[in-house]
Amino acid sequence: MTPPPVFDDWMRQTLDQVERALEHWVPCDAPAGLGDGMRYGVLDGGKRLRPMLVRAASEAVQGLPEAALRAGVAVELIHAYSLVHDDMPCMDNDVLRRGKPTVHVRYGEASAMLVGDAMQALAFEVLTPDGPEVPQALQARLCGLLARAAGHAGMAGGQAIDLAAIGRRLDESALRDMHRRKTGALLQASVMMGAATGSADAQALAGLSTYGAALGLAFQVVDDILDVTQGSDKLGKTAGKDVHQNKPTYVSVLGLQAARDEARRLHEAALLALDGCGLPDTTHLRQLADLVVDREH
Ligand code: IPE
Ligand code: IPE
Ligand code: MG
Ligand code: MG
Ligand code: MG
Repeated sequence: MTPPPVFDDWMRQTLDQVERALEHWVPCDAPAGLGDGMRYGVLDGGKRLRPMLVRAASEAVQGLPEAALRAGVAVELIHAYSLVHDDMPCMDNDVLRRGKPTVHVRYGEASAMLVGDAMQALAFEVLTPDGPEVPQALQARLCGLLARAAGHAGMAGGQAIDLAAIGRRLDESALRDMHRRKTGALLQASVMMGAATGSADAQALAGLSTYGAALGLAFQVVDDILDVTQGSDKLGKTAGKDVHQNKPTYVSVLGLQAARDEARRLHEAALLALDGCGLPDTTHLRQLADLVVDREH
């Protein structure tokens, strides 16, 4: 789907802002080449969907732009770290990411591990500036949301299930649980971190939370679909690797058409949640939901 021009401008501006912020915050001078690896792993690449979700949610609740930018950068750093580790030989053993050789291929395995570790720490550093730009109560709230989504109950826990599930049959509910944790949690947290930067009542928070959960799961369902329907050139990562590695996915468990139907159903659920959230302008959140299910990479 081609996004309308106004949304296109907003996306371009957001991408530009996030790129400049990452460029500023990810160090060149970390010891022994660590900064080079960090910059290689996070700059110049990626769709930056998570920072866009943070910004769109923040704008929907008239949030603090500085807090939203820091939250977007923080969540992108956690995401980039998860990709660096996900690609390592002890996990998915991938050689291509964002159209380039993976961090461990370029810098070695020990460096890739440290790059991920340092990105994770930097995410929380960016969320906790010493100055007055982000009130301390908000800093704590943002750190809590991000930590919970990244840790054992969220992304790291989901990745543990993913590795334990290789070669095993999962039923749909176990698969859904794995996808919600490994991918959905961080996307939902992006929405809720954006919401935390402004004022949202209980109805708005509930609607945004439901939206984030549906969109987060839809995102991984579509990732499973693209793994079998697109080539490596388009994806910027190795296509067909879920089958190759015998991973249970929405496609292997439900079949391609049922996986597509599920993505559509989740898309509708996400939009319905926005309808009921009571916020006056959720246009960009809607358009991001469209993008998640209609994307080609
Ligand atoms: C890929 O995420 C990993 C998953 C969680 C499925 P993205 O598709 O958002 O990767 P980038 O950031 O655009 O490279
Ligand atoms: C990764 O899922 C989710 C993460 C937490 C990184 P995948 O293993 O399917 O992601 P890709 O396909 O390698 O990007
Ligand atoms: Mg993986
Ligand atoms: Mg992978
Ligand atoms: Mg995948």
